[in-house]
Amino acid sequence: MSVYDSIAELYDPWSRSVTEDVGFYVAEARKAGSTVVELGVGTGRIAVPVASAGVPVIGVDASAGMLEVCRRRAEAAGVARLVDLRQGDLRDPPVTERVRLVTSPFRALLHAETDEDRRAALAAAHRLLVPGGRFVFDVFAPSPEDVKETDGRWLEREPGIWERADWDLERRVLTLRVRGEAAETSMTLAWLPTEEWRRLLEAAGFEILACYGWFDLRPYAGGEDSIWLARRPAALA
Ligand SMILES: C[S@@+](CC[C@H](N)C(=O)[O-])C[C@H]1O[C@@H](n2cnc3c(N)ncnc32)[C@H](O)[C@@H]1O
Repeated sequence: MSVYDSIAELYDPWSRSVTEDVGFYVAEARKAGSTVVELGVGTGRIAVPVASAGVPVIGVDASAGMLEVCRRRAEAAGVARLVDLRQGDLRDPPVTERVRLVTSPFRALLHAETDEDRRAALAAAHRLLVPGGRFVFDVFAPSPEDVKETDGRWLEREPGIWERADWDLERRVLTLRVRGEAAETSMTLAWLPTEEWRRLLEAAGFEILACYGWFDLRPYAGGEDSIWLARRPAALA
């Protein structure tokens, strides 16, 4: 069981306003021009637009419920044949193919809660890439203002969908509760400062091509979101 199973049907209405990243990931997929692996594919919020742009996707997710919603969405969009869904762990994905682009959109890597988990996830992404291939993902770290405004309060994120954030600043762990009319869940997300993501990426053998502060490609300047483009170095001649 995954903590996302109980909110699989709630996930799309809950994340309805999150659209700013779709064009960015579709553009990266078009650039790669061949099969993309998405780690933590969820309901296909990104994968289905990528497939609709003609790029095949292998989508890995731990939640059977999220994958079922994704399957329906791909079918409704007429791209089911381009979306290959596999239930599994992003630290050890059930993928033997090697690809030019691995992605992990919308903070999925924050579900890796320890350095050991993060190292395993980054090693998996590295392993899935051909030399020269790219790993693109986004994460966040909260600002003091965000913590102050939201800590311990139930806020209505979308009509009828409530969210409560409890921030543990010492452990850098967010406990996020989500509640709709018919479903609720509680999950934990662990954040890191950007320097630590940089260190982990380099230790995993990636070259860092860019760290953006938003999906419009503005450089990272200390905000909450960071969007990473990393490359598995090309093989030496
Ligand atoms: C915030 S959602 C992002 C979904 C999708 N990428 C998007 O952009 O909407 C995180 C997803 O990661 C999945 N996930 C969390 N931990 C995982 C793990 N260890 N292995 C595989 N999937 C995981 C969850 O089930 C969920 O679908």
